[in-house]
Amino acid sequence: MKFFVDTADTSEIKELAATGLLDGVTTNPSLVAKSGRQFKDVIAEICQITEGDVSAEVAATEFDTMIKEADELRKIADNVVIKLPLTFDGLKACKQLTDEGIKTNVTLCFSANQALLAAKAGATYISPFIGRLDDIHLDGLEVIREIRVIYDNYDFDTQILAASVRSPNHVRDCAIVGADVATVPPATLKALVKHPLTDKGLNAFLADWAKTGQSIL
Ligand code: E4P
Repeated sequence: MKFFVDTADTSEIKELAATGLLDGVTTNPSLVAKSGRQFKDVIAEICQITEGDVSAEVAATEFDTMIKEADELRKIADNVVIKLPLTFDGLKACKQLTDEGIKTNVTLCFSANQALLAAKAGATYISPFIGRLDDIHLDGLEVIREIRVIYDNYDFDTQILAASVRSPNHVRDCAIVGADVATVPPATLKALVKHPLTDKGLNAFLADWAKTGQSIL
């Protein structure tokens, strides 16, 4: 499973990219607003930090303007992926951009039927929001599971990009049910490495090593 980080905070992206474990970045209008920066400047900087796919979301809700905005965003860098909302206009834009060879990420997906439409429109990525489904007492993971079955039934190439991932358990569960990518907030991505027994075991090994008085170098 690929790891994307879900943020517009470039210092966090740099830190994670340095680990070599980062495969791409997703942003959304709320994350850009939180950064307090100009949208195109942030996307340009992110695209220099990572060679992976960087999702930049259109602000328009109507087809013609979506296409114009996509043309503008594509000029920023080759690894920009156009993020489109899961509406009929968004799907129509997805189809047109896909036909032109442009990568797309169809976002705000909350059902397997919506994901089926996005795959038929040729989306590179579909973003089901599992946390927001869990928030209203629906089963976000079940939607990912259903999409996996449908995409496998028909050999769709669209990649399942699990979004609205809120915890390390979400990440594990997405990997178990076969999501292709999980986009994860920086703090959650960093939390994946943590285990109290790792810390305890390392401390014990370091203490015993110190007793030997040896040095490897
Ligand atoms: C996905 O592309 C979205 O940016 C994101 O995962 C939404 O997460 P949230 O529901 O925690 O805001």
